[in-house]
Amino acid sequence: MIEKTFIAIKPDGVQRALIGEVIKRFENAGLKLIGIKMQWLDKDFALKHYTEDISKRRGEKVREMLVNYIVEGPVIAMVWEGIHAIEIVRKIIGDTEPKGAAPGTIRGDFCHVSYDYADKKGKAIRNIIHASGNKQDAEYEIKLWFKDKELHSYEVSHEKYVK
Ligand code: CDP
Ligand code: MG
Repeated sequence: MIEKTFIAIKPDGVQRALIGEVIKRFENAGLKLIGIKMQWLDKDFALKHYTEDISKRRGEKVREMLVNYIVEGPVIAMVWEGIHAIEIVRKIIGDTEPKGAAPGTIRGDFCHVSYDYADKKGKAIRNIIHASGNKQDAEYEIKLWFKDKELHSYEVSHEKYVK
């Protein structure tokens, strides 16, 4: 039940100086940060992260816009660990479309754009953060972004209360 999940603060989150704000929310929930780095992606790497699956689900145009968005500036790549971490992190970040993301979630609190607006403008939805969607994606993304030795095993002081 203890899972690892991959999270990236996208270029808009970094440029808006929301790194601390985002990290605080996962720490507050008692999740454990086990790997972190800043990385500026090139398009080849971006295409490995946003795989064919995005084209199938969202269309080739969205994948192209998304790849251009994710290389606009450095991102903060992280691995977080916790009980049902994949699902819990998705709950904390909120819905993909900021317009519908609930207040209290990262996307609900820090952005508000709709699919409609972004599509009309021909823009990717800048929604601060990426998090793995399921177990299979989490495994793939963690392997893609991090070497084994970049992930750490340690105990946090509050562990006995949150587990
Ligand atoms: O990020 P999440 O897993 O919530 O959603 P996704 O379906 O995996 O899509 C990945 C990303 O594509 C979203 O976070 C948006 O930034 C972007 N997107 C977009 O720009 N326009 C859409 N119509 C759908 C998604
Ligand atoms: Mg996704």
